[in-house]
Amino acid sequence: MAKKMIVANWKMNNAFEEADQWLGTFIDLYANNKDALQNLDIVICPPSFLVDYLDSQLLDNAFDGLETIMLAQNKQIEDFSEEEIADIVVGQRPFWLGAQDCHFENAGSFTGDLSAEMVKKIGADYVILGHSERRENHFETDEIIAKKVAAAVAQDIVPILCVGENKEIRDQKKHLEFIYKQLLFSVPKGVKFYRLVIAYEPIWSIGTGVLPTIEEINEMTRMIKKILVEKGAEFAEEIFILYGGSVTEENSAEILAIENVDGLLVGKASLDAANFVKICLS
Ligand code: PGA
Repeated sequence: MAKKMIVANWKMNNAFEEADQWLGTFIDLYANNKDALQNLDIVICPPSFLVDYLDSQLLDNAFDGLETIMLAQNKQIEDFSEEEIADIVVGQRPFWLGAQDCHFENAGSFTGDLSAEMVKKIGADYVILGHSERRENHFETDEIIAKKVAAAVAQDIVPILCVGENKEIRDQKKHLEFIYKQLLFSVPKGVKFYRLVIAYEPIWSIGTGVLPTIEEINEMTRMIKKILVEKGAEFAEEIFILYGGSVTEENSAEILAIENVDGLLVGKASLDAANFVKICLS
């Protein structure tokens, strides 16, 4: 796949002020590197209360862009059709927004949770599901994640489904078998793989600075691609397979060059907009 996807996972970091600073830096850098960056699918997954906020900031920014175009062309808003306005507004959008989780039920007594429908309403087109921090800290099983995947897809949200083995499984050399099962059990029957993005994130690499070798990433992403070919038939080539775990501007180019790696899921290094843009440009 020629196109690449770069996803930022802010985890439980940043509030309004930091988000404003991040966005200001990102938009400036985006304007300076538009040709390269607009060819990527960039997805920012902030804490959920910021999804709505960033969505409206992006809209304001797009309307500023529309005004600039009107001034340059000496036109009034009435001179544009609704479709033209929509095209300009979407065209100005430098990235998509994603949530970091959603519940599988539509509504009910689930204190602290957001449904897939709510996540969609606040402006998310993507949702990270099955991140190892949710699997571990919130005891999420493959079965629960599969239900969340179904709920997200039903709302037309693209799940960024995370899979990854821990160090023990890797040391026992059971990682391929483990990921094979984790992937199959986290996708419910009836949901086509082509509706998903798959992120391979070895737990022992997340936030540790320890990276798998290129051959190790290659071996795993090759197997994931094989599963997708088996299950997703003709759409397998369209499915993004991301690598995540200790990605930085220093290692991103080498990882992106791996045959079956279509993008990156970036945690810590995405918190600095300038660093994140360097990763996007690598
Ligand atoms: P990291 O996190 O880049 O900080 O290792 C990645 C992730 O957990 O998605």
